[in-house]
Amino acid sequence: MSATILILNGPNLNLLGQRQPEVYGHATLKDVEANCATLGTELGLKVDFRQSNHEGELIDWIQQARGVASGIIINPAAYSHTSVGILDALNMFEAPVLEVHISNIHQRESFRHHSYVTHRADGVIAGMGIEGYTLALRRMATLVV
Ligand code: DQA
Repeated sequence: MSATILILNGPNLNLLGQRQPEVYGHATLKDVEANCATLGTELGLKVDFRQSNHEGELIDWIQQARGVASGIIINPAAYSHTSVGILDALNMFEAPVLEVHISNIHQRESFRHHSYVTHRADGVIAGMGIEGYTLALRRMATLVV
């Protein structure tokens, strides 16, 4: 049975493609999901791709992933910079966690420079556009063998 990788997306990423395209590009979250599904098949990983605008729902999904998912890739979006709750949930997850940001958060406003999730993440990708997701998935494949 192939390992399941949970890919989580935080608030406003449902509007990827329409949302500040000069920062986040023109691809939609459906495009990102399709790229991850294709690569997942190639790597022999089952990809479970989700988005929520609600902090509690993301926390519920992280809790439910315990003992089920072999890794989590998360773009916590704005919750990166605010959510101790998401960090605490990830701290209870026993397998690898990779953090992705489409934009280079370190080049942007100072409030984006700190991410709570980074305290738990085994790796962080920022500023690689939507390619960051497939790069993270390739890295995840090496971590979950
Ligand atoms: C983001 C960066 C965050 O600062 C922002 O709030 C987002 C998206 C990124 O993917 O670049 O919503 O996580």
